[in-house]
Amino acid sequence: MAARAPTPAEIERASVLRRELAGHDYRYYVLDQPTVSDAEYDSLFRELEALEREHPGLVTADSPTQRVGGHARTEFAPVRHRVPMLSIRTETDTTIAGAQAFDVRIRRDLGLLDGAPAVEYIAELKFDGLAISLRYEAGRLAVAATRGDGEVGEDVTRNVRTIATIPHRLATRTPPPVIEVRGEVYMARADFDALNAEQDRQGEKRFINPRNTAAGAVRQLDPAITARRPLRFFAYGLGEFDGYTPPATQAGLLQELASWGIPVNEDWRVVHGPAALAEFYAAIEARRDALPFGIDGVVYKVNRLDLQDLLGFVTREPRWAVAHKFPAEEATTQVLAIEVQVGRTGAITPIARLAPVFVGGATITNATLHNEDEIRRKDIRTGDWVVVRRAGDVIPEVVRTVPERRPAGAKPFAMPARCPECGSAIVREEGEAVARCSGGLVCPAQRRQALLHFASRHAMDIDGLGDRLVEQLIAGGKVATVADLYRLTPEDLAALERMGEKSAANVVAAIGASRNTTLARFIFALGIRHVGEATARDLARHFGDLAPLQRATIDELLEVPDVGPVLAESIRDFFAEAHNREVIRGLLRAGVRWTPGTPSPRTAGALAGQTFVLTGTLPTLARDAAKALLEAAGATVAGSVSKKTTCVVAGADAGSKLERARALGIRVIDENGLRALLAGEGEHT
Ligand code: IVH
Repeated sequence: MAARAPTPAEIERASVLRRELAGHDYRYYVLDQPTVSDAEYDSLFRELEALEREHPGLVTADSPTQRVGGHARTEFAPVRHRVPMLSIRTETDTTIAGAQAFDVRIRRDLGLLDGAPAVEYIAELKFDGLAISLRYEAGRLAVAATRGDGEVGEDVTRNVRTIATIPHRLATRTPPPVIEVRGEVYMARADFDALNAEQDRQGEKRFINPRNTAAGAVRQLDPAITARRPLRFFAYGLGEFDGYTPPATQAGLLQELASWGIPVNEDWRVVHGPAALAEFYAAIEARRDALPFGIDGVVYKVNRLDLQDLLGFVTREPRWAVAHKFPAEEATTQVLAIEVQVGRTGAITPIARLAPVFVGGATITNATLHNEDEIRRKDIRTGDWVVVRRAGDVIPEVVRTVPERRPAGAKPFAMPARCPECGSAIVREEGEAVARCSGGLVCPAQRRQALLHFASRHAMDIDGLGDRLVEQLIAGGKVATVADLYRLTPEDLAALERMGEKSAANVVAAIGASRNTTLARFIFALGIRHVGEATARDLARHFGDLAPLQRATIDELLEVPDVGPVLAESIRDFFAEAHNREVIRGLLRAGVRWTPGTPSPRTAGALAGQTFVLTGTLPTLARDAAKALLEAAGATVAGSVSKKTTCVVAGADAGSKLERARALGIRVIDENGLRALLAGEGEHT
């Protein structure tokens, strides 16, 4: 099919993209102050590439697709790279397809037939820092240069000499007359955090991230400032060399560089074929957050240097290497609104509603803003473009705004005066970071949270009482306090939308079963501010029953291990509140009971996933009875001891099973131990 002429819209779009990308290149490479995330940049870049591929006539000589991003800063003397410092192609498909696509291209470019053996690759980390070329002449560091536009970089020798781990002299008696070592200058996470802690102490501005801080430090005009920044270096390749024969492979080269005292990261692996590359990718991604420095992916290279030469380069990239990136942990998006959420204790958390953005492997639409001070510190406003971050399973947060993109008229955030859920006043006490709704259990949001907490697994453990049901119960006026739960009938529940008769009966049964609980669980379930599970257990053990705890003075509370003044006051205030005492009376009237001192039986499923073995004769329990009790608690009872056994219950005349348990270091208990375990005393240890 003949190429279609570009439409005016496409011509316009290509020019807009070129201009935007050039601006981003300038802010990233020259100012070290990017205003968009890598992912956003990549997507613009790919859009332009696609347009140009479809309409080669749109390619201009100065298109960002035709060159490497940077320009040398004029304050530094220019250094011409005799072997250009290029970039590498980025594979953005973050699955095995990324590794496969690379392998397919390599096999095609090497002219390998289908049956030919797997290609040998080296997989390395992709360090997130600043590319540097170190020129050693007769073994001495002569010139250090940035990449610049790939052809001409900046002479940063004086700055780089201050980096402790870069040797001024190669540790070999026979250094090549000329060799350029290429690699990445970076800042370790711990060093970055320490640097920011120091900035805080000095009342100075915090640094944004390790990459920009490292890049900015190398490109300081005053080497004394560079010297104060804790920079490091990893080598990953060569530039020009003379009078030197490199090893046959990239792996051999890395080893040789390391032997000369040049820092080389050890997390590289030589592998064959695409599946092994993908395996490396997955293994590194799993360890990503635990690495002491930032990486944004891995790099695959053809290991043999002669094959690299054979493959050569396309315009700006070598054919023999590819960067396989991880899903971005940071992305840029817009704040659509700032709303507040009310927690169980009335704490108000401001939340940013975001234009949906894909970050760290998921699409996010909300990010926590923590509290009012935090919003003020970061000056986040509705309409702002912000960098959001999502690492692992943590709640996404806003890292910073992009001031250059703030819309005109954006107003600073103001904490609402009234709770959006109940209209009660929002108050913020002297010295507290958190504002609270003063509505207490009048506030449906607090009621909802209080009910969910009460029913949660480590509190009263009521199965089936989730978000939606609680919401419906409150909206329908069926429950106001936790005590009301015990008055619910299967009919009440079955009347709710999307609730079958059977599940209604199950929930009512689960509520009923929760009447028998432990004192520790009950205290925790009340949701007293600052009283977590551990404190609830301490209080249960110390006071033995609820009545003495309710009556306790501050001084008496302070006698409990780990209870300090804030906690003591919170407990006293809770029980001083008439409304709370009424709820407790309601629970007692509803038949909620705990056994003072000895906790009541564990709820079903408490031993789920655990395997027990019974052996010998127990003093009072028949074997079948012991088995039934264990199974009722969710445990599996097995006939023989293996490494998978959790615990062996041994009675009189126990034989080989007991011996084997001891040999394997498996826990052994007697009948009393079993009873204690079933009674939930395991929780009290
Ligand atoms: S090899 C011919 N290996 O990522 C270019 N680069 O866009 C060969 N980088 O400019 C580069 N870790 O600054 C290579 N293990 C690694 C790397 C790495 C980080 C940087 C490098 C390069 C950029 C690619």
